[in-house]
Amino acid sequence: MYRFTLPRDLYHGKGALEALKNFQGKKAIVCIGGGSMKRFGFLDRAVSYLEEAGMEVKVFEGIEPDPSVETVMKGAEVMQEFEPDWIVAMGGGSPIDAAKAMWIKYEYPYVTFEDMCKVFGLPKLRTKAHFCAISSTSGTATEVTAFSIITDYSKGIKYPIADFEITPDVAIVDPDLAETMPKKLVAHTGMDAITHAVEAYVSTANCDYTDPLALHAIKMIQNDLVDSYNGDIAKRDSMHNAQCLAGMAFSNALLGIVHSMAHKTGAAFADYGAHIIHGAANAMYLPKVIAFNAKDETAAKRYGVISDFMNLGGESLDEKITLLIDYLRKMNDDLNIPHCIKNYGADSYPTEQGFVPEDVFLERLPEIAKNALGDACTGSNPRQPSQEEMEKLLKACYYDTEVDF
Ligand SMILES: NC(=O)c1ccc[n+]([C@@H]2O[C@H](COP(=O)([O-])OP(=O)(O)OC[C@H]3O[C@@H](n4cnc5c(N)ncnc54)[C@H](O)[C@@H]3O)[C@@H](O)[C@H]2O)c1
Ligand SMILES: [Zn+2]
Repeated sequence: MYRFTLPRDLYHGKGALEALKNFQGKKAIVCIGGGSMKRFGFLDRAVSYLEEAGMEVKVFEGIEPDPSVETVMKGAEVMQEFEPDWIVAMGGGSPIDAAKAMWIKYEYPYVTFEDMCKVFGLPKLRTKAHFCAISSTSGTATEVTAFSIITDYSKGIKYPIADFEITPDVAIVDPDLAETMPKKLVAHTGMDAITHAVEAYVSTANCDYTDPLALHAIKMIQNDLVDSYNGDIAKRDSMHNAQCLAGMAFSNALLGIVHSMAHKTGAAFADYGAHIIHGAANAMYLPKVIAFNAKDETAAKRYGVISDFMNLGGESLDEKITLLIDYLRKMNDDLNIPHCIKNYGADSYPTEQGFVPEDVFLERLPEIAKNALGDACTGSNPRQPSQEEMEKLLKACYYDTEVDF
């Protein structure tokens, strides 16, 4: 038996934020990040819609990008005091993910962060509150997913919390919120979205329900992402839907080792000023992982289907896969994202010598590879790498060398 879970309601299209007016409840806490939602007036609108619905509203603000365990604990305490029956998280993946973890701790104050990280091991939620997620970036799709990514900065590791219990009750996918994204954010979140769709399509947990969502998302992102990056607002609106479809696919089909590697490298070099942004990490690693996974016959065929669906041409399966890899690398070039960690420079732009020194990378490599193998996303990857293979893969991602193993 398999399970396919999505939010009960999804409001989409311009102006969908207004759906908040019809919520029923007594108290809502609105969780936001560092200020973009406030600056662009979306916070005020959300609060007034909830008040119009007759609710008392409290705002929890300042959730940092790549939220920490400490922030989660702090937010949960505020919730315990305020006792909301609606948690409304608005912003990018970071505030929404943090609010999901706060929700768990609010409902079960004795659950520790370690408990939360047991895959599909959460207790029943919704005994105190329902959850609404309103996304303002076009990538993580956390508004529809069963995941939350929290960083333990003492270990320099991102931990995925995974359970259908944290799939939101309501998702609001209003493109108005995404229109204010700066270019760099469009690029990173967009490459995150295409990675979700590709990994979901080749995941060992793929199924008839997730495949069409993944393929359609890939096609939309192929059509829309680069133009959105270059300022086409209609395409930016369309990307907001595309990333959400990719999310519906991967929340149910799971992901693969591109994400395992991104989770375990993201904060690993923070002491060198190099936070490897999630979407940029995925963009760099995806072509390498495709070459690695394509040694698995089933995965190779599926990459071939993706390539054909994108109309990339090619006669043999090998050619189709090569064209897919080339296409994705060209997208990185068009979006100003480097091809490897070595060239990952200031503001995530390509540079000759990036943040992460070679000797530091090599010294930390065995530990990072071990952590990536243990990541929750590794289990559904179509080819299971050994420690040695994972180290070789990560090296290829550092130097941008060919993957022929
Ligand atoms: N839960 C999931 O399923 C899932 C999937 C993939 C990634 N993630 C996680 O999500 C996080 C990344 O989320 P993200 O990429 O959405 O970015 P983010 O939430 O970290 O936001 C990045 C920055 O963009 C700003 N911002 C957000 N929306 C904006 C807008 N519309 N206009 C202007 N500025 C805006 C924020 O203020 C912030 O400074 C990472 O921690 C990643 O690991 C979660
Ligand atoms: Zn992702």
